[in-house]
Amino acid sequence: MTRIGKRGLLGLAGAALAAPAFAQGTFPTRTVNMIVPFAAGGPTDTVARLIAQAMSTSLGQTVVVENVGGAGGTLGAQRCAQARPDGYTILMHHIGMATIPTLYRRLAYDPINGFETIGLVTEVPMTLIGRNGLPAQTMTELAALVRREGEKLNYANAGIGAASHLCGLLLQQALGTKMTTVPYRGTGPAMNDLLAGTVDLMCDQTTNTTEQIKSGSVRGFAATTPERIAALPDLPTAAQGGLPGFEVSVWHGLYAPKGTPAPVITRLNQALVTALQDANVGTRFAALGTAPVPVARATPDAHRAFWQADIAKWRPLIQAAGQYAD
Ligand code: MLT
Repeated sequence: MTRIGKRGLLGLAGAALAAPAFAQGTFPTRTVNMIVPFAAGGPTDTVARLIAQAMSTSLGQTVVVENVGGAGGTLGAQRCAQARPDGYTILMHHIGMATIPTLYRRLAYDPINGFETIGLVTEVPMTLIGRNGLPAQTMTELAALVRREGEKLNYANAGIGAASHLCGLLLQQALGTKMTTVPYRGTGPAMNDLLAGTVDLMCDQTTNTTEQIKSGSVRGFAATTPERIAALPDLPTAAQGGLPGFEVSVWHGLYAPKGTPAPVITRLNQALVTALQDANVGTRFAALGTAPVPVARATPDAHRAFWQADIAKWRPLIQAAGQYAD
């Protein structure tokens, strides 16, 4: 006879209690909390709020965005990894999910096995921007300025693991120099300081920079994409500005804590896919220089495969740079 220990019996009892709710398809019966691991007003927050609103309609329950910024996106990720795996806590995170496992050698959560994937959301181009008043108008002039002034220039980012951090690393590598880094809880607040002229430069996603570049309130130097960005046709690519190979784009995905039941993941994925097909989401994303991923890429399996491949892609580059958070 198979022996079932006390923990096993408790587990079976818990499963028996939990099963009817999922079997009847009642999830969700209350508010779902979507953690954004960066400050309000930044690019991850913008993507999350558009998706959360559309998911609320399809789930029939409010999806509330909670900003848990700090430590390059690791604090919010930790909050999700350690939450009850019941579908009521989910996480909108970005490319940091692929770089943090290498950048951080000590974390209070498992950055790879601590999560279920729900689906990919977007891929967003990055732009290199500077404060108005910098004595450089073009990428070529900026490259000369950075090489000349080095650490006298302040580069804003959202902490080690942020997309702005990664982009800054690549920029400094490409220019063969270092600037002074000023970390924020997200590039939303960093943008405020760039607008005020208290920091000089930043790389950030078009979801945070398109309107500012178009209005001229910040200076756009380059798009870090192989092609020009449709929403910013006047902005040259980094290659056109003399920095071939300086390319990075950011992707976002939706996660749940490890152990979230499969029927709940399926329900969340259905709501995500419906959100990605929502006309308002499509229009807003296009105006911000991005687009929802095609539905075939928004499955949990496609998301996991893409994420794992990106971890493998960034690991040797980070190791070669020898840049760790600890
Ligand atoms: C980043 O640099 O990783 C993001 O811009 C963070 C954010 O959403 O604020």
